[in-house]
Amino acid sequence: MKLKGRGSVILFPLPFQGHINPMLQLANILHERGFSISIIHTRFNSPNPLNYPLFRFYPIPDGLSENHVISSDPNRIVAFVKFLNSNCQTPLRDCLAKLISTSLEDEDPIACLVTDALWYSTQAVADDLKLPRIVLRTSNVSSFIVLSSMSLLFEKGYLPLQDSVAEMEVPELPQFRFKDIAMLEASDRESFLQFIEILVQETKASSGIILNSCEDLEQEFLSKLSLLFPIPVFLIGPFHKYFPASSSSLLPQDRTCISWLDKQQPNSVIYVSFGSVAAIEEADFLEVAWGLANSMQAFLWVVRPGLVQGSEWLELLPNGFLEMVGERAHIVKWAPQQEVLAHPSTGAFWTHCGWNSTLESLCEGVPMICQPSFGDQKIDSRFVSHVWRVGVHLEFKIERGEIERAIRRLMVEPEGQEMRERIKLIKDKINLCLKLGGSSYKSLDNLVIYILSM
Ligand code: UDX
Repeated sequence: MKLKGRGSVILFPLPFQGHINPMLQLANILHERGFSISIIHTRFNSPNPLNYPLFRFYPIPDGLSENHVISSDPNRIVAFVKFLNSNCQTPLRDCLAKLISTSLEDEDPIACLVTDALWYSTQAVADDLKLPRIVLRTSNVSSFIVLSSMSLLFEKGYLPLQDSVAEMEVPELPQFRFKDIAMLEASDRESFLQFIEILVQETKASSGIILNSCEDLEQEFLSKLSLLFPIPVFLIGPFHKYFPASSSSLLPQDRTCISWLDKQQPNSVIYVSFGSVAAIEEADFLEVAWGLANSMQAFLWVVRPGLVQGSEWLELLPNGFLEMVGERAHIVKWAPQQEVLAHPSTGAFWTHCGWNSTLESLCEGVPMICQPSFGDQKIDSRFVSHVWRVGVHLEFKIERGEIERAIRRLMVEPEGQEMRERIKLIKDKINLCLKLGGSSYKSLDNLVIYILSM
């Protein structure tokens, strides 16, 4: 229920599934706190306005063809984000200018613009239009610090990664090894560092940062963050705990997962999903399939179309594979992930460690097998396996024997039970953050007051 006249907030998500979800969840959180909500979005990967009857939606041109496919190559993702920033700057300005002029007659004046941190070109637009801009960083604090320190890490000679030190701890960040901070192998270092530099500079120029994390999870990084970004910071997460249903899914969620899970024993199923972007080679896909089959555990596997480049869906599986695993397996194109993780039959999550997936798993107390591919996923994975010790990291190449051993460690051996107990404590800690007096609860109060003062 909206409290009338608190002002309106305009949000501008980056069109990636892992960025749209938290931005739309944030929109819901702010709406619940009395703000009216407008979403400006690219036509590409547009959220579905029908799922949000109380919000206003404004599509802007983005210069992309309708059938554009996001590459899983990190260097191409960086190039794509740059392309979006330059292509959408003017359309965003035009759209905002129109909204500002019509808002003069509106009962809810525009309080601020919230954009993804990767929309760095929006700061100039906000400045021009004298609109405060708050940045949403959809990852956690520690990976944001590592990303923001890239130039320094190169200057110090820590990067590019040298094999001889890959396993050693980074002196300033002893939680991580050199290989964890090597977020991606930049094909053009100058251009990558320029990208990070502008992202950091435009975040510093903003009016504040919201992060989808909570203070109690990342206490030791908070002072570093405020040193790097001397602006107001609000850790109000995990966002999905405020609004559990994921109405921002770009792909239809196959609900047969839930009826299949209903028929399984408690904690008996391994759920496998590598998120919306990561892709794997054909040979690795077959190792995953055999690792799962040989583990003799029940498994629910999300094989997203495009998970293996060029493949339609399951045609790469060996003849007879599906008959062999039978009822023990359920394979879908896209799952209602939060419900799957919350289901009592789900005993472990084999994940690429995108931050949304990691948080969703922590919140449901499901231990993880970590298979990071690039960017923040490596940092999240290190946290899961070595800091929180609630998962195992598949360190080397994807191989069926290693996969089978990792699954056994989590599902069969006492180690898995110990992880389940530890992750339960983290789940409880997160729940406390969100309750009256908890750190995220207070931070959200502060954010609302801050927006009201703008
Ligand atoms: C991307 C990056 O890869 C990730 O590293 C970064 O932290 C966020 O942006 P993505 O790879 O999609 O995200 O992973 P993740 O952050 O885990 O987000 C995926 C979202 O899709 C989650 O909210 C998850 O619940 C949802 N999902 C995933 C589904 O709804 N169904 C599925 O079958 C799989």
